[in-house]
Amino acid sequence: CEDLLFSYKGILYPTTVCSPEVFKALECFEARREDVILAGYPKSGTNWAGQILTDLVTTAAENTEDETNSLNDEELEEFPYLEIGDTEKYQRMEKLSSRRVILTHLFPHNLPESIFKNKAKILVLVRNPKDVATSFYHFTNDMSPLPSYATWDDFFTAFMTGKMPWGSYFDYICEWSKHVDEENVMTITYEELKENRALGVKKIAEFFGLLLTEEELQAVTDRSGFQAMKENAQKTHGAFGNILFRKGSVSDWKNLFTEDQNQEMDKTFEECLAKTKLGAKIKYELYCK
Ligand code: A3P
Repeated sequence: CEDLLFSYKGILYPTTVCSPEVFKALECFEARREDVILAGYPKSGTNWAGQILTDLVTTAAENTEDETNSLNDEELEEFPYLEIGDTEKYQRMEKLSSRRVILTHLFPHNLPESIFKNKAKILVLVRNPKDVATSFYHFTNDMSPLPSYATWDDFFTAFMTGKMPWGSYFDYICEWSKHVDEENVMTITYEELKENRALGVKKIAEFFGLLLTEEELQAVTDRSGFQAMKENAQKTHGAFGNILFRKGSVSDWKNLFTEDQNQEMDKTFEECLAKTKLGAKIKYELYCK
């Protein structure tokens, strides 16, 4: 399984979708202040929040005459994950209109410096690690480009040690924690979006300064429901859509974790994250409910 991974600045990535050459090219990527960036560890609901952002940006653009705000066809065709593509991707992105919606699973230290230097706004999306592990296990076994694991126990060990595509969840949250108080950074949890999607959509629009009417915000909320996105998955994500929109629920981990694994994760969470800002948010909002 390790043949399918390579290391870049200390983090493992899948060779089938990322490459050292693309990462090298990415270092020169020029972020813009207007870029809309979504950062999340894999399986945190990135495609969900990504659709909300694209929909908000597109709708807001229709309300303004400023064409630099709109997403053109080429832009919508460009695969939205920053680190996935070919070495010419960043040249193509250079030519795109101003408001680019960019998704990424990268650790902050693997992002191009220009994102922080040019003060692009970043939405950091987090999800309960137990549900992330559960979702990742199903996904990685269904997706041929990613390593698969013979058993859930094997996957759990890899997840806890961080020897995984896109690295350790715990290190990821710990590193992003150092950025949560920056004025260009907003955090949102999968669980809060699940509990009150309309409020989440509104907060996201406000943070990025996207002007939409109440009706438009409601329409974005309606289009981002799990069922609506699942039904549209073939169109938006092709064959990959069936794998991606799996259950969309909270606490599915209870169907996979043994009591020992549950305790081991609680212990690791406590040791690695409880004292970090993002860890405290996850603990307060997700664990203690
Ligand atoms: P599950 O595997 O638990 O169902 P990512 O986009 O980061 O790969 O995350 C995928 C997870 O987000 C999957 O979780 C998927 O079902 C869930 N998801 C996708 N769209 C969603 C939506 N509209 N509402 C709730 N969850 C959604």
